[in-house]
Amino acid sequence: MKDPVCGMEVREDQTEHQVRYLDKTYYFCASRCKDFFQQSPERYVKARHEELKAERKVAVVGAGQVGSTFAFALMMSGLASSIVLIDAQYDRAEGHVMDLNHGLLFVPPARINVGDYSDCEDAAIVVVTAGAGQKPGETRLDLVRKNMDIFKSIIPQIVQHDPRIIIIVSNPVDVLTYVALKISEYPVNRVIGSGTVLDTARFRYLLSKHCRVDPRNVHAYVVGEHGDSEVPVWSRVNVGGVLFRHYCPDCGKQCSQDVKDEIFNQVKGAAYEIIQKKGATYYAISLALVRIVGSILRDENSVLTVSTLMDGYYDISDVCLSVPVILNRSGVSRTLKIALDESEIKRLQGSADVLKNVIKGLDI
Ligand SMILES: NC(=O)c1ccc[n+]([C@@H]2O[C@H](COP(=O)([O-])OP(=O)(O)OC[C@H]3O[C@@H](n4cnc5c(N)ncnc54)[C@H](O)[C@@H]3O)[C@@H](O)[C@H]2O)c1
Repeated sequence: MKDPVCGMEVREDQTEHQVRYLDKTYYFCASRCKDFFQQSPERYVKARHEELKAERKVAVVGAGQVGSTFAFALMMSGLASSIVLIDAQYDRAEGHVMDLNHGLLFVPPARINVGDYSDCEDAAIVVVTAGAGQKPGETRLDLVRKNMDIFKSIIPQIVQHDPRIIIIVSNPVDVLTYVALKISEYPVNRVIGSGTVLDTARFRYLLSKHCRVDPRNVHAYVVGEHGDSEVPVWSRVNVGGVLFRHYCPDCGKQCSQDVKDEIFNQVKGAAYEIIQKKGATYYAISLALVRIVGSILRDENSVLTVSTLMDGYYDISDVCLSVPVILNRSGVSRTLKIALDESEIKRLQGSADVLKNVIKGLDI
């Protein structure tokens, strides 16, 4: 059976953590989950109940460039039965909803509406893209104060209607995921940042171009902050199961450290370059969001590098950042401890420190 707090599989005969509530016994993977449950059992029992009956409704808070493009990609995917757009600028959201609805004839059926926070009530997922984006030359961390104030206003309004999962996209995404987790008091598995899913896609695409192999067969992760301190896990890169360092001599192309540095610099600098050229990024992030949302709605148990609260991962705790996790209907089902080499561990810990220093300066 599933731990009602974190959603992990637990065997009744192998755990000592259990609670009797309303004539039923609930089992937990750890004392931490049991403690959460005991603080407000009705929340978790309701969440389990909702989990079974929730329709595939997705609410999007923030109908700007990312929110509206995501709604378009989601509509085309056919994954959601209902999409609601919520924005401080009602007309903007309504305009997008009208435009999207006029295309319904050409895609799988869905209901698409403009809404308010009460529409989060029976949503399986609320995706938060509200807030300021980077201006040319600005880092993601520069946005923190502006977007933190917005989050202080919108997260309580979302939580009041108890949607099952909240996905944070607004930047700095790792810091705001942590802020949303603290403000919402949701269990860890139900607040997720889009994290480095996009950076990992950029990394795999650039490697695939270099190696001349389909990006779906190039396996690689970017972990840590979605931002300047992110870490490429070179030691685990593989092409169709062949480790990168073994693939290179076979392929015969030059793969000096300079080439690797150049590939990663392009990953890290991609958003800056796109923002410089066209003002914002929204296509690839929207497709990354469809992938994340799909793995939750369809209970796929997919492995994706989303941002989640760390609890002892390579000695990192109390900060949200990206590592590979298994995603399903419960949100983050578990984190995967990939084998990193010494320098990668140091860089991941350094990335956590960068984020912790930002969080330290916030009033939460
Ligand atoms: N995590 C990622 O990988 C990633 C990628 C791209 C963009 N982003 C981030 O996503 C965010 C949105 O980017 P964008 O390009 O869509 O910006 P945008 O300016 O086009 O849209 C932001 C929207 O938020 C709305 N908004 C602002 N305050 C609000 C509030 N209090 N309540 C409701 N709505 C509110 C605005 O009206 C606007 O429609 C930015 O923070 C950007 O940095 C993240």
